[in-house]
Amino acid sequence: MSEYKNIESALIHGGIYGDTHTGAVNVPIYQTSTYEQIQLGKHTGWEYTRTGNPTRAALEALIAELEKGKAGFAFASGMAAITAVLSLFKSGDKIIISSNVYGGTFRVLDKVFKNFGISYSIEDTTDLQGLDAKITSDVKAILIETPANPLLTITDLAGVSEIAKKHGILSIIDNTFMTPYLQRPIELGADIVIHSATKYLGGHSDLVAGLVVVNDDTLAQKIAFIQNSTGGVLAPFDSFLLIRGIKTLGVRLDRHVENAEKAAEYLKNHKAVKYVYYPGLPNAQGYDINCRQAKNGGAMISFVLHENYDIAEFFKSLKLIALAESLGGVESLVCHPASMTHASIPYETRQKVGITDGLIRLSIGIENIDDLLGDLEQAILESEIR
Ligand SMILES: Cc1ncc(COP(=O)(O)O)c(C=O)c1O
Repeated sequence: MSEYKNIESALIHGGIYGDTHTGAVNVPIYQTSTYEQIQLGKHTGWEYTRTGNPTRAALEALIAELEKGKAGFAFASGMAAITAVLSLFKSGDKIIISSNVYGGTFRVLDKVFKNFGISYSIEDTTDLQGLDAKITSDVKAILIETPANPLLTITDLAGVSEIAKKHGILSIIDNTFMTPYLQRPIELGADIVIHSATKYLGGHSDLVAGLVVVNDDTLAQKIAFIQNSTGGVLAPFDSFLLIRGIKTLGVRLDRHVENAEKAAEYLKNHKAVKYVYYPGLPNAQGYDINCRQAKNGGAMISFVLHENYDIAEFFKSLKLIALAESLGGVESLVCHPASMTHASIPYETRQKVGITDGLIRLSIGIENIDDLLGDLEQAILESEIR
């Protein structure tokens, strides 16, 4: 067991390090569905890979350590992780979600869990007093993202956790946009952390995965039971890939954020840009709260061009930055939330929560910043309606 104090080292040595059988510095890929038992009624601790697999267990121990929780669980996607967490609830329960969450989170509540009698309401979680007043006896959890997708609104994590504790309900934080390198909700009182590990944790746009971390033994038992019963587990090979991705999270995010800060500044000062949403800009909504609860503003930026720019032309003109769903990979991506990531949210709701048709979302990668700004500049010029 290595000795370390800081997260940069935990990213590399955390959880279960290497392989005691051989001294390999990487956890092997245990590509097996089952394990031979010693005798009837006696096994090695491993029975069947849906229930447990050593490669997945190494990843689960790693994410629990990074998020400072009691137990971690790995799933086949972020949505499988969210589905497992929502399976904690029963008919008659209500979940409050923040105004802009990932469209798929809204969709699974609206189109799947509603059919099982679990309802939801969308609230402005940036207003803590207003949120407190919305907690009726049927509300059993508050599920938030901060920064939220795609307007990067900031919610006070400690404030939400306190409200949840006061009412005896769960606070669930989707920490995908920040990762434990930049923000650790459990240290601020949260009960459950969720990740789409497809994004920064994986970091290379080559895998789909989800993680859950809980800070309570009873919750850990419940999630373990749901994970094994519903079976949306992460495969051994993908668990290995994710451990590998997490090792470089710190250096990647340092560069992502350095680039994003420069890109946000560039957009803020550009005459073509009407609004910029980036939690690292001092005039951003929730800037002070974000400074308190996170290391920096992360690497996601949303913006709106003035009316005399054609956004379809802007997307078409980008040469380096790819038009694609997803985020958090080493390569920069751009997306149009209204027709892509948030298309499953009805038009009226999108307007109400500010996801307008002109909104453009950037996932800033780790390329050379001059190349990124050059691509943005030439696409903005091309899109001007003269
Ligand atoms: C914040 C957030 N949560 C959850 C998800 C769902 O994760 P996955 O696509 O890995 O199922 C996404 C996907 O974009 C996301 O952005």
